[in-house]
Amino acid sequence: MSDDPREDTSEGERFLVIAVDGPAASGKGTIAAGLARHYRLPALDTGLLYRCVGVLMRKAGEDLDDEAVATAAAATLTADQLEDPALRTRAAGELASRVAVHPRVRAALLEFQRTFANQEGGAVLDGRDIGTVIVPDAPAKLYVTATPEVRADRRWKQLAGQGEAVAYEDVLADILKRDARDGGREAAPMRPAADAVLLDTSEMTIEQAADAARRIVEAARARWLKAN
Ligand code: C5P
Repeated sequence: MSDDPREDTSEGERFLVIAVDGPAASGKGTIAAGLARHYRLPALDTGLLYRCVGVLMRKAGEDLDDEAVATAAAATLTADQLEDPALRTRAAGELASRVAVHPRVRAALLEFQRTFANQEGGAVLDGRDIGTVIVPDAPAKLYVTATPEVRADRRWKQLAGQGEAVAYEDVLADILKRDARDGGREAAPMRPAADAVLLDTSEMTIEQAADAARRIVEAARARWLKAN
């Protein structure tokens, strides 16, 4: 028997779209990448889009609160720009969250994300509004969380591994600020979709979280197949 989970896909299942949302450093990126490998689906880390807009604005010396300029930057993005390692820094995360409050920036990035989600065969997308705004009809939705302290510890270790020396307290403060901004903004605030399954990874290893995520997707897929 093949271990390709897509081989038991019925005729009726055109694609599998998996939406993974959650706050910074919750583990959603690792979980999304694991699901993409398991189901052999392409993955998009949508945070990179906002990071890229923020970094472009900062490089050009633009005011991050200027919605028109940020929207113009968002409109010029191309997929190859998302490979830049500079987008993975702590500073880029903060810049991203600043430009992500602008409704027109979000609108300018919508089509790219929807086109990615609706490609043949399906896709895995992770972000803040995938299940609520980008693909509200995704058959499988996860909302990945962990306590702010656990998330700060993970992010701190990750940054240290990248050679970015920073105090744990500063990382925790960043995370709390980002949660408040992402959850409090008017445009597509970070929140679980009504039909998302919550996955709290605070007490889980990466393997346990990946297993739990797969079980959630399998259950969602079974439900979706039954209904369609
Ligand atoms: O996930 P990541 O930390 O890379 O996201 C950076 C920032 O981009 C988030 O704090 C959030 O403000 C914004 N974002 C968003 N919607 C998404 C993905 C990211 O608003 N779908």
